[in-house]
Amino acid sequence: MKIAILGFGTVGSGVYEVLKTNYETITKRAGVEIDIKYVLDLRTFPGQPVEEVLVHDFDQIVNDPEVEIIVETMGGLEKAYSFVKEALLKGKSVCTSNKELVAKYGAELLEIAKQKKINFLFEASVGGGIPIIRPLNQSLTADQIIEITGVLNGTTNYMLTEMKERGISFQEALEEAQQKGFAERNPAADIEGYDACRKIAILTSLAYGKQVDYEKIPTEGIVNISDIDIQYALNMKAAIKLLGSSKQVGDNIYTMVAPKIISENHPLYTVNGVFNGILVRGNVLGDVMFYGSGAGKLPTASAVVSDIVDSAKHKGRNIMTIWSQKELELADTKSLTCKFFVRVKQEETEAAKRVFPIKQVCEAPNVSGEFAFLTEQMSEEKFKKAALKVSVLNWIRTEL
Ligand code: HSE
Repeated sequence: MKIAILGFGTVGSGVYEVLKTNYETITKRAGVEIDIKYVLDLRTFPGQPVEEVLVHDFDQIVNDPEVEIIVETMGGLEKAYSFVKEALLKGKSVCTSNKELVAKYGAELLEIAKQKKINFLFEASVGGGIPIIRPLNQSLTADQIIEITGVLNGTTNYMLTEMKERGISFQEALEEAQQKGFAERNPAADIEGYDACRKIAILTSLAYGKQVDYEKIPTEGIVNISDIDIQYALNMKAAIKLLGSSKQVGDNIYTMVAPKIISENHPLYTVNGVFNGILVRGNVLGDVMFYGSGAGKLPTASAVVSDIVDSAKHKGRNIMTIWSQKELELADTKSLTCKFFVRVKQEETEAAKRVFPIKQVCEAPNVSGEFAFLTEQMSEEKFKKAALKVSVLNWIRTEL
């Protein structure tokens, strides 16, 4: 079976490498030999074996009837969307790692694949190498999903872990994550939470069968998290994690992305470094956890190649999903409750005591000149109103 890879960057070159390295095992599992007929890239790679199959014109690929599977690892939206749509309309299955594309156009592209009896697969779009899309779509089918909560971004988890364990600064941690190839081309997508936002949108759309508009998900990143916050969390035997979550309460689905302080008993507490962890709660199954490498060349490529194998195995047959084009209405998160961790300047102590219901005073070694505390359980709405009345240094939601 002939395939083509669009984009020879970190993930695309990883897919090339995995297909070459594990050629025999992959052939056995797919039931057919998978051969790379083309790699599309604007650049050239003098002296590298990829040059033999390198092309610069997408039309050459999409008009070649021998090519049955197209792998999209270019990233970005515009070109990726038009190439993928054209490929599907021409009857070629597509496997992609592009979470932006899947989050925005997933329902439409899945519908085309269904009509054409081919597949649009995107295992690598969430959780890097962790199998989560296939289990959610094909294994957890007996349950109503009542919660999905995950550490979904490897870059920020790597940064928060290194800041906590080695005491390095935010900037140093970010530079390291970039060097290791975890971060997005524009790392704002990682640190401002947009990457996690697209990933929770994909999981939520798959779980509830309707398209989530990710622009409607309240999203906060880790840009306001300082080493001082991390010291307080450490002193509480807790950790700060950027969590993407969707919860069903009655008929309401609440989805958000935000940093949270979680206790050492939380199932995601031990998810450190570039690892991702995803907790799925079903109404009959209870909890199930998915854990593994959340970013990086080969783990992500491994997930893409698993989709190539699945496409080969399902030639002429569409793997059904319930994800439709109807929009999923997300409930307003203002009624969600939690205990908030708050820091104010020392001179604001009395004001803070007046406006917040304080459950516990917090301390951190080597931090002075401020007053830090945990509130009682309170709603987002009440908390934000109270926070307007005092000059707050920082606050973070908790699951303590
Ligand atoms: N920048 C992403 C992350 C890559 O750090 O998780 C994997 O999607």
